[in-house]
Amino acid sequence: ALPVILDTDLAMGVPGSDIDDGFALALALADPGLDLVAVTCVGGNADVESAVLLAKELLELLDRRHVPVHRGAAAPLCHPELRRGAPEQIRAAFGRHEADPGPAAARIAELVSERPGEITIVAIGPLTNLAAAISLNPDLPTQVREVVIMGGVYFGHTHELRRPGEFNFLIDPEAANAVLRSGAPIRLVGLDVTSRVRLTRAEAEAMAAEGRGFQRFAGRYTTAWIDHLAERHPSALGAGESCALHDPLAVAVVTRPDLVDWVPAHVTVLDGTSVGRGAAITDLLGAPDPPSPNARVARAVDAEGFRDHFFSTSRALDAK
Ligand code: BDR
Ligand code: CA
Repeated sequence: ALPVILDTDLAMGVPGSDIDDGFALALALADPGLDLVAVTCVGGNADVESAVLLAKELLELLDRRHVPVHRGAAAPLCHPELRRGAPEQIRAAFGRHEADPGPAAARIAELVSERPGEITIVAIGPLTNLAAAISLNPDLPTQVREVVIMGGVYFGHTHELRRPGEFNFLIDPEAANAVLRSGAPIRLVGLDVTSRVRLTRAEAEAMAAEGRGFQRFAGRYTTAWIDHLAERHPSALGAGESCALHDPLAVAVVTRPDLVDWVPAHVTVLDGTSVGRGAAITDLLGAPDPPSPNARVARAVDAEGFRDHFFSTSRALDAK
């Protein structure tokens, strides 16, 4: 099985926050082709402390307490003032979990250098930890097997957007650029493609009603998330009926790259203070000129194929 580090801003369990990192974690554990060697947490959808506590809670619910969880960046690379702490209700509900070992960036740097050519990093939050790991270990880009990133928007609009960017790139565009410039082999799954892979309200309700452990927890928070999205964006794609599984698609393509149509491109992220901050500028390299590609970008997804993979693979977890 391929050794994988999942770098996540997990927020499943924080009311009003996206739930997809939780399903990405479950899929990484369920896929027999993957060996989840570490979960590294970063501030994003939730603050980093909540992400750590929730990662431990989910690993307990999934009966995989042995998977190490590392605490990472509390704030974006160039904006330490954006640091947040865990809300009291999260500390009260999940604070019993033990303190976590060492900083995430150092652990990522170390794991990759210990196993050159072997490790795949799946990054499903802001790229702060990964950028820091590359600073700590400048050989990481040549030592890593592959980096799969959920981030950016590349081919058109998504119905969910009010700004040109996508959350993970918008929160830390400086880190995103550091990673994109690093020379690492990168696959990018963007919001325009990940928005096509959906989990329905009926599926979430069935999990909440019939499932145990993780399924029950995930089903409850997913139903609440679908309600929350419908209130905030009543005319968005699937409002009230479904939500996107952005991050699980990034996990899925590690063993199933065939689910996605990939194109080579050179991607840069706008930083600075303009309204374009966080937007991905994509050069599809039609001309024979530089720049050369720095990533393979998802252009389309076999959404039903993904759902088959997601549900059949996740079934293995139910048996536990
Ligand atoms: C990304 O931001 C979060 O809402 C999701 O977990 C995903 O990683 C989508 O823009
Ligand atoms: Ca995420």
